[in-house]
Amino acid sequence: MLQQTAIDKFLVKSEEAAKVIIETVQKDGNISVFSHLDADGVAAAGVIGKMLVRLDARFRIRVMQWVDDKIVEAIKADKPELVIMTDFGSGYLDLLNEKIPDYNVVILDHHQITGTTNNPRIVQLNPHLYGIDGATEVSGSGVAYFAAKAVNAENVDLAPIALVGALGDMQDKYEQRSFHSLNEIIVNDAVAVGLLKVEKDLTFFGRETRPIHKMLATTTNPFIPGLSGQETDALNFVANLDIPLKEGDRLRALCDLKDDERKKLCTALADYLLSKGLHLEVENLIGNVYVLTKEEPNTALRDGREFAVLLNSTGRMDKPSLGIAICMGDRKCALEEANKILEGYRKNINKYLGWVMEKPERLRELNHIYVIYGENFINEKIIGTVSSILVSGLTNNEKPLLAFANIEQEQAAKFSGRTTEAALRKGVNLGDVMRIASETHGGKGGGHNIAAGAQVSLDKIEDFIKTADELVGKQLKGEKIGNENSN
Ligand code: C5P
Ligand code: C5P
Ligand code: ZN
Repeated sequence: MLQQTAIDKFLVKSEEAAKVIIETVQKDGNISVFSHLDADGVAAAGVIGKMLVRLDARFRIRVMQWVDDKIVEAIKADKPELVIMTDFGSGYLDLLNEKIPDYNVVILDHHQITGTTNNPRIVQLNPHLYGIDGATEVSGSGVAYFAAKAVNAENVDLAPIALVGALGDMQDKYEQRSFHSLNEIIVNDAVAVGLLKVEKDLTFFGRETRPIHKMLATTTNPFIPGLSGQETDALNFVANLDIPLKEGDRLRALCDLKDDERKKLCTALADYLLSKGLHLEVENLIGNVYVLTKEEPNTALRDGREFAVLLNSTGRMDKPSLGIAICMGDRKCALEEANKILEGYRKNINKYLGWVMEKPERLRELNHIYVIYGENFINEKIIGTVSSILVSGLTNNEKPLLAFANIEQEQAAKFSGRTTEAALRKGVNLGDVMRIASETHGGKGGGHNIAAGAQVSLDKIEDFIKTADELVGKQLKGEKIGNENSN
């Protein structure tokens, strides 16, 4: 017999998860779905929601920031026949085993796994079990997609939503921003059913919705000195290329350019970057863009990356049901409202970024990490985005960034850690750092090697920071920090 590959084993396990779901629905059992609040979690909830509607199941979806006693209490109150957790759960096996051992639970997750379970009532589909990397090869919505596809092949039409989640988790890390492994299977599925086109283009954010000069002026990745942050200069740059800025009354976006105009813009940007000595940036100008072919042009839903930010905004601004409704097909009220939420979200982020930069004590450099003291100013649900944005702009890119915000009513602080590929290569694993440092001080944490989070009580903030700083120092020296995850 041919040896089963890791991917085969993962797919076999997806059938087991599907079987539990189908059997519950056949018995008309109640299903409680819990998902994570970021773009990937909202997309995962949308995939599972659509799958359950198609099964005519009885279910309810709730979106949360993490797994804790609140979820346990909700489960005990609902008494569902089945709990489905998407985009979280694998870091909380001990909690589930201890607090709700008698409930059937299907976990569809891609986070590092903490603890083990021999409880037959817990079915866990997670790529790490097979040596597949959950940080880069499949997202939570991707795992949910494979379960949905195993439930019924008609659910392949949810493949684009699964990719939107993977883009939200920044998994397009391979050559020219392509996907790899399980994510690549999802791309192929989406293309095969005609819902996705993968094109090569400039990868600036805002391909469908931002006027070209605004797109250039707002880019931070790549950062273009002289154009980034300089709207008038960016406008002149485009106008000097004889590329019309308008079509009728409407300002044109990158997707509206004709091939020769696109080439002209590309060449001019490459020449400009080279003239500033920014060779690396030139290599990264062009990459895969993911076009959702059935969505209206010039809307945020047509570009996978813009779609992901829209979903992120709904989850992090306390309106996840809007994002979920959009993933399930709503293109009317939900989309209109979500676009308004997105505007508010952007304003908040800009306000936070400005605030951090205003005073040096708000962003401090320690021996091995940077820390942002968001305290009571930054919303704890948005601190993760702030951390994701700021990590790429730090002077020393081998030092991870930990940002925190206070949650006064819980007397706790929420930490969001982000690091870089360079730090990973040096041996940093933030998932382990956040988990061990938080547990040392009575909190809880975990996540991926490149992005992880934690909660600790307010009086433990400084202790936690000190421990995390030391742990990163140890990892950089190649020392064990105790009880690491194997993956
Ligand atoms: O819970 P989940 O896995 O969906 O969240 C991952 C988080 O980590 C996202 O907010 C994503 O933006 C961030 N991330 C990152 N860099 C990566 C992978 C994920 O900042 N390479
Ligand atoms: O909340 P934030 O976006 O910073 O989380 C980064 C990653 O760490 C996410 O994938 C999140 O699900 C994970 N995380 C975790 N356990 C926590 C906090 C965050 O697994 N207690
Ligand atoms: Zn995720």
